[in-house]
Amino acid sequence: MKILAFETSCDDTAVAIVEDSWKVIAASRISQVEHAAWGGVVPEIAARMHAENWDQALKACLKKAHLEISDIDAIACTQGPGLQNSLLIGTTAASMMSLAYQKPLIPTHHIHGHICSIFLERESLVHNLDDFFPSLVLTVSGGHTQMHAWKSPMHLELLGQSRDDACGEAFDKVAKMLGLGYPGGPIVSRYAEKGDRHAFDLPRIYLEKDSLDFSFSGLKAAIFRILEDKKSHSPQSGAFSEKFIADICASFECAVGRIFEKKIERALERFPETKNICFVGGVSANKYLRTLLTEKLQKIGKNFRVPKQIEYSTDNAAMIGAAAFWQYQTAPDNFSVGMIDAMPKMYL
Ligand code: KG4
Ligand code: ZN
Repeated sequence: MKILAFETSCDDTAVAIVEDSWKVIAASRISQVEHAAWGGVVPEIAARMHAENWDQALKACLKKAHLEISDIDAIACTQGPGLQNSLLIGTTAASMMSLAYQKPLIPTHHIHGHICSIFLERESLVHNLDDFFPSLVLTVSGGHTQMHAWKSPMHLELLGQSRDDACGEAFDKVAKMLGLGYPGGPIVSRYAEKGDRHAFDLPRIYLEKDSLDFSFSGLKAAIFRILEDKKSHSPQSGAFSEKFIADICASFECAVGRIFEKKIERALERFPETKNICFVGGVSANKYLRTLLTEKLQKIGKNFRVPKQIEYSTDNAAMIGAAAFWQYQTAPDNFSVGMIDAMPKMYL
């Protein structure tokens, strides 16, 4: 089954054609550089750019795939959560395509999309689901930090989530405090490679014994205090030194890594039958965290899975096509030709 998917929840206009949840036939993306000057995504600009770009992204995707719309079986789009006006452009585009070409429309949950990014380019996994489930999945993005027990493609149980900032948001705020620009994750990660992971003793907040929730605001506040202290001791020097920035970034990543290790340990105690631990969402693009968790889980004989390509970690349309496939397979009668609005469907 070939699904044409749109993802416009934030600042990238992405379109992909995905077959049977694993085969990425083609993908195109138009990124919005316009936000960099503002130090973060400006919702109004994002929506306007999606409106300008979606048809170009669609044409590029179809061209790469050497397909016509008539070759497509269904249309999918991110329904939520995300920026409301940005979502509205994607849901309107998908609804128009559904009506014009008489294809069923599959509205998809963004987080289910991130989770299903694990299937992309993994044909044998999709054909041997009994070997894959039950699994655990840690979804870490700019808006969410969640741990789910994952029992089948459509069956997820929320075990814990952030009580304050999302982890990606903490990366972005650390970068902002250091004056490094947006988006912060990749920049912090680049600096961290040159830093000392133990230079600063930052708090690792594990919350109550057995809790699988997360909290990153204390970590962020601790960095704020270190920076204020540094500024008060050298007020005339202005910018922070490269070495200082690298050490802060490295210590921050180290604390985040330790929090994830601890939460995974706790989840495995509760679900010892877990076959795979998956790490998805924008922050799963982080090289240090990928390596740390791979080594940790190898030691205890558990499989660790991240999306096959880095571009499937951050927002992309292929993951939406993958999630839509399972929704359709599970309940085809729920999906018909039609219109939807940009209201998140909260089944997670
Ligand atoms: O999943 P995503 O692309 O969008 C949301 O659904 O939010 O995640 C974006 C987040 C941003 O906070 C960004 O700074 C972070 O993912 N991110 C990273 C890396 N690449 C992106 N964080 C740490 N290391 C990275 N390499
Ligand atoms: Zn996302």
